[in-house]
Amino acid sequence: MFKSFSFIRRLDESNSMYWTLVFLTRNLLWSERVNYIEKRCVLFLFVISSVLFSLFTFLSKQRANLPPGSMGWPYVGETLQLYTQNPTVFFATRQKSPEAVRYVLVTQAHLFKPTYPPSKERLIGPWAIFFHQGSYHTQMRKLVQGAFSLDIIRNLVPQIEITAISALESLCGEQVVNAYCELKEFTFDVAIMSIFGNLDAFYKKRLKENYRTLDKGYNSFPTKLPGTLYSKSVLERKKLRDTLSEIIRKRKEELLEQKDLLGSLLSFKDNKGRQILTNDQIVDNIIGVLFAAQDTTASVMTWILKYVHDDSKLLEAIKKEQGAIYESNDGGKQPLTWAQTRNMPLTNRVIMESMRMASIISFTFREAVYDVEYKGYLIPKGWKVLPLFRNIHHNPDFFAEPHRFNPSRFEGTGIKAHTYMPFGNGVHSCPGNEVAKLEMLIFIHHLVNKFRWKVVGSDSGVQYAPFPVPHQGLPAKFWKEPCKQENRP
Ligand code: HEM
Repeated sequence: MFKSFSFIRRLDESNSMYWTLVFLTRNLLWSERVNYIEKRCVLFLFVISSVLFSLFTFLSKQRANLPPGSMGWPYVGETLQLYTQNPTVFFATRQKSPEAVRYVLVTQAHLFKPTYPPSKERLIGPWAIFFHQGSYHTQMRKLVQGAFSLDIIRNLVPQIEITAISALESLCGEQVVNAYCELKEFTFDVAIMSIFGNLDAFYKKRLKENYRTLDKGYNSFPTKLPGTLYSKSVLERKKLRDTLSEIIRKRKEELLEQKDLLGSLLSFKDNKGRQILTNDQIVDNIIGVLFAAQDTTASVMTWILKYVHDDSKLLEAIKKEQGAIYESNDGGKQPLTWAQTRNMPLTNRVIMESMRMASIISFTFREAVYDVEYKGYLIPKGWKVLPLFRNIHHNPDFFAEPHRFNPSRFEGTGIKAHTYMPFGNGVHSCPGNEVAKLEMLIFIHHLVNKFRWKVVGSDSGVQYAPFPVPHQGLPAKFWKEPCKQENRP
């Protein structure tokens, strides 16, 4: 499949030879048995070897084939286009190879580390799971995956259901709402639930306030100048840290073992029963999960509202599927069960197709940690490598008529392996994917059974916030379906 790995090996071998030489030179220079003239010869030979080594490395790289494409402007490269252009346009001419994505994220993941802009890392916190590789990452992942496993999140169904109903109620009214902004409130509440279980309303409110300002800074220009959005976010992060530290302290005092994410992070102990993770490690990971969970899920949900709104036949079919569940729950008098959420095949396909079409995470960032050879091309150490999910999701070789919304493409086993990656792939793939799907299913169940919505104004265009969302967050009006009032108290 790949031409060879000889280049990587040669550099690794010559690197270790070089360090052996450094070590020998140092020993000889410090040795009392080597006289002054001999030491000068050793030093001379060492300098010559270093020059030859650098030359060898340089020439190897010159000879090697860099990947094709534009280098962009000096220093800034193509950064400006990356952040300002529509991703469909920017990535149109780039690689569409699921094989290459798998190489970077799965089979040779150790050759590439995740990288994020330092300004973002400062706001989220350096200990958050997605900035790491190796044993710390593996351990954190076990804890996070455990807390978001099916066995744990099945217990969240009643709470998510109550939150979904109340979110939908608050959307209704005469006023036009920005659907994306409203849905961010819902996804934030669910994230809080999956992190803390039942959190005191007082802390929930405080976290929301702290996080709202922090959130605004993620995509602002990173400057420490007082009064700027970014500097305000940095200050607010300190307050958020204080609030979280208070919650952590209270939880420790309660001495209750809980199975939510906080409980799982706190219960990670050494063999003497001492907590392993520091307060900062816990805080950074909580902020990390809030960051990973809120905007992503809200943008997918906004797209679902749009796609289903635009296809009345599809809406009727979803209503039929969800209506049957509603009726079997005695017209909504009984709560939804976990088993019911696992048996909504059409709604599930609508979610999958929305994630493919919108590809809200168009790509992810990796950086080569060594010089890597892929298919005869050299990817020099330190180069950024972007696995492009969107390109693969929109490639007609894998998804026929890729720009047509067609949930039935997910019927049966028609999708080629490793071509569908809305939640990424490999060691950093999304551990919260089941939480995201669960909250979307529950929300859609109540949306189509008891509510109606209409998109207001022009419903075309995409805005990047930073994930793609319909223009202006999809302005829409929501109202309650008169014949299907909520029957439960
Ligand atoms: C539809 C909504 C979501 C989408 C599309 C999504 C997508 C992704 C993707 C593509 C990655 C991998 C990034 C990479 O490889 O660099 C990721 C990682 C992650 N996601 Fe999600 N996500 C969603 C919702 C959530 C939720 C609800 C949670 C938590 C409750 C969550 C927690 C995380 C975490 C902690 C990571 C980092 C994992 C690691 O580095 O090992 N995500 N997500």
